[in-house]
Amino acid sequence: MNANEIRQKFLDFQVKKGHKIIQPAPLVLENDPTTLFTGSGMQPLLPYLLGEPHPDGTRLTDSQPSMRLQDIEDVGDPRHTTVFEMLGNWSLGDYFKEEQIHNFFEFLTEVVGLDPEKIYVTCFIGNEKYGIPKDTESAEIWQKVFAEVGIEAKIAEIGTAENGDKRGIKPGERIFFYDDHENWWSRGGGCESTPIGDPCGPDSEVFYDFGEDKQDVEKYGLAHPASDGARFMEIGNSVFMQYRRLPDGTFEELEKKNVDFGGGLERISAAAIGSFDVFKISLMKPIIEKLEEISGKSYDNNTDEMRVIADHLRGAYLLAAQGLVPSNKTQGYALRRLIRRAILRALDLGIASDFLAEVVPIVAKNYTDLSDEILAHREDALGVLLREESAFRKTLNRGLKELRKITKESSATLSGYDLFKLQDTYGFPMELSVEECYREGIALSPKYREEFEAALSEQRERSQTASKGMFKGGLEDHGEQTVKYHTATHLLLAALQKLVSPDIAQKGSNITAERVRFDFNLDHKMTPEEIVAVEKQVNDWIEADLPVVYDEYEKAYAKDTLKAHGQFWEKYPNVLKVYTIGDFDAPVSREVCGGPHVEHTGVLGHFKIKKEESSSAGVRRIKAVLE
Ligand code: ALA
Repeated sequence: MNANEIRQKFLDFQVKKGHKIIQPAPLVLENDPTTLFTGSGMQPLLPYLLGEPHPDGTRLTDSQPSMRLQDIEDVGDPRHTTVFEMLGNWSLGDYFKEEQIHNFFEFLTEVVGLDPEKIYVTCFIGNEKYGIPKDTESAEIWQKVFAEVGIEAKIAEIGTAENGDKRGIKPGERIFFYDDHENWWSRGGGCESTPIGDPCGPDSEVFYDFGEDKQDVEKYGLAHPASDGARFMEIGNSVFMQYRRLPDGTFEELEKKNVDFGGGLERISAAAIGSFDVFKISLMKPIIEKLEEISGKSYDNNTDEMRVIADHLRGAYLLAAQGLVPSNKTQGYALRRLIRRAILRALDLGIASDFLAEVVPIVAKNYTDLSDEILAHREDALGVLLREESAFRKTLNRGLKELRKITKESSATLSGYDLFKLQDTYGFPMELSVEECYREGIALSPKYREEFEAALSEQRERSQTASKGMFKGGLEDHGEQTVKYHTATHLLLAALQKLVSPDIAQKGSNITAERVRFDFNLDHKMTPEEIVAVEKQVNDWIEADLPVVYDEYEKAYAKDTLKAHGQFWEKYPNVLKVYTIGDFDAPVSREVCGGPHVEHTGVLGHFKIKKEESSSAGVRRIKAVLE
């Protein structure tokens, strides 16, 4: 059974079980402050999962094109893709665990024809901190379901994935309990990361076993369902959405309990053909074969590159088919990034001239069953992709020509400054220059990376100076004073975290042209020594005249990689502004913030704490001035 058939069979099956087919949401979301793209089937159903009646009733189903750009770095392995289709079914206060578990098992084993022996499942172990019980009910239902096909399914308490990597699985075990990092579903992740106001709950995931030989034990540890190796692949997730997160962080039971099921069409299709590699399924294989034909290289020897290209062109095609055009902002930038990454990876295969005209129609052909809208925009989408390809190709060629010119003029070593110039002026990516140098045997300065970084920060400083000149006279008196307080507030928070407690977070602030009032969590009155130390630290940083720079980043990158301080991660948009004070690689302060700020700390003057008092329980308040 191929992927298009599986999609159709799933919808037919759910209709037979009383569900109505609903229109999937657009992949590209407009005016949604929380996210750029639809990332799961439940997203458009949020209000109904919280209790609003749905016009089509209490049993719904669809196949939702979804995009998870946060997975982009994982693409290249056998199972990750940025874009995928999520088969979904929902019970809005209708059936619950028993019917959902039975139905999904029936679909997998009787409709798709998977061998029940290869099916493994996981359930939620409970969370004491939030008073959420262990989901023994689901585990018992699963035991019954397996018993009906003659399988005695033993239960294992795994807890964390790391624990599983050490423990592995024991004979007969088929049902596994994990903590909330694995078996709790909300749009934000585990219990702690559940966004305020969102529906959420314990989930039960289904995994397909591709065989013991697929696990790379040295790299990933012993195999178990939630391990990273290739033996087990998640193919579906039933979320028992029965809670909502409250503003105080606790969880409240919903009046009506829902089921939110999502299963990756690509992954179920892979299991159906017994392939642990999703790039072998009917939606992907023709793309890979075309890449083999164009490059004259084999998939087996160029697996990563071909996976990335196939995935990115699929994603780019679906985005363009919804009317998105490449740009340098948010969603348009995501599209541009997908196209350019595909073109760059194709260079690794030796494909150095335009090739999208050959590949994209094959991508499009696979989606003829998906939706009328996508079909109707097929030609437009192709045009958008081809134009971006030719523009980017020009950029690349110009950069390459310049690179050759530089190396001809100076037979000496190429520095990171040269590479920066190529990227900055000609848009020729640094990584490509490096590769070209290797290929052509051109000597590179051993410090090219540091030099490149130095050139980049010099440029940042230059552009700040330029904008300072441009706005001279514009930011005056009150405005300017307020901006100074704003920057001083970032330094104050950083000093408190450094000298008083790393757990301190901002709880509120109020800035006028005369003073800053800053609230933060702390369980004691600050000692006079602490106050003096914090004041001195802020003044030292002011005297050091540190640069203040900002840039826009994707949320996950800002949070996890840059470790920026933020107060409202759940509410931030996907792309946000981050201010860094001091050395970019070892900053004094890094915060998510809209700005504006001064451009270097030397202009702030002398910082003085005037008062430190209680604001409310566990919250302290500082009033401070710049003199
Ligand atoms: N919403 C659930 C998921 O994305 C089904 O896994």
